[in-house]
Amino acid sequence: MKSAKIVGLGKYLPSNRLTNTDLEKRVETSDEWITTRTGIKERRIVSSGEAASDLAYQASLVALKRAAIAAKDLDAIIVATVTPDTQFPSTACYLQNLLGASKASCFDLSAACSGFVYGLTVAWQFIAGGFYGNVLVVGSEVLSAITDWTDRSTCVLFGDGAGAAVLTATDKGGFLSSYLGADGSASDILILPAGGSRHPASIDTVNKRMHYMKMRGNELFRIAVRVMVQAAKKALVKADLSASQVDLFIPHQANERIISAVAARMHIAEDKIYRNIVRYGNMSSASSAVALCEAWEEGKIKKDSIVLMDTFGGGLVWGSCIIKWV
Ligand code: ACO
Repeated sequence: MKSAKIVGLGKYLPSNRLTNTDLEKRVETSDEWITTRTGIKERRIVSSGEAASDLAYQASLVALKRAAIAAKDLDAIIVATVTPDTQFPSTACYLQNLLGASKASCFDLSAACSGFVYGLTVAWQFIAGGFYGNVLVVGSEVLSAITDWTDRSTCVLFGDGAGAAVLTATDKGGFLSSYLGADGSASDILILPAGGSRHPASIDTVNKRMHYMKMRGNELFRIAVRVMVQAAKKALVKADLSASQVDLFIPHQANERIISAVAARMHIAEDKIYRNIVRYGNMSSASSAVALCEAWEEGKIKKDSIVLMDTFGGGLVWGSCIIKWV
């Protein structure tokens, strides 16, 4: 059976920087608290009117150019996002139109911070099964639109951005394994309460600030470490690899302390961990997409590199995958 490989990566970060010092002027916080508790120094924020498909478009243009694949040759577009342009049509459909990818089927995928790894896995299986040839997977988020800028426990954590990957078939290497998991019983730990069919938008939901993310960060922290270790180990077993064979570990960039705790429990050496949380904060599905792209741009991923991606997010959902770079 064929596998799939990544032939092009792209990213887009809005130019507006929001620093910890800027946040000190909005809520009762400090650069020192944010830095030591999270590892974040700044994050990017969209300009007024910029939506998830606009970010996705810029990232996709770069990925397609590097892949030397024309948009019209895409068979499918999967956009992982929790901040779609609209409830429907899907952000993938808006992106298809912007790219002129008229042949592509399009859908959005909702798996919070694990969305990009979920999307890569779906694309890989489409390709391995022979259903599609070229698939574009994008993680794109405008989290600033659902952030409560009066809540210091969440507003310091999140940022906007997009990352994109183009996948095609390969006879050797490429995706070696993937492991996806979920626990719907803990859905209230991280949630956007209103705007769906449970609590449609109303004056009441707006007054109660129910269109902003609510998170019990402390609880989430402990679960994140446990399930990310579990997910990484499962993917390693499936690929018949040990942690010492991993050349680059790309964890979800939610909190510097979560990254370090997971890597320590996996016995992954410091120089094999990719981090960019300091620059961008948590961009949900875009975090691992941008991290993968930047690691490749910085020359940290070479031919035959074994890359382990490991993610965790609201749902709860988690997902890991192992790619042998070809
Ligand atoms: N500035 C200053 N003080 C603050 C801030 C802030 N921005 N935020 C909270 N505090 C205070 C709290 O009020 C509390 O004060 P108290 O002791 O007087 O009550 C104190 O700091 C400690 O608060 P904790 O919540 O216990 O702090 P913690 O060390 O757990 O760090 C954090 C909070 C950063 C949110 C952490 O718990 C975390 O990263 N959790 C995981 C988040 C995560 O992984 N999300 C992933 C999924 S994201 C997605 O799916 C979109």
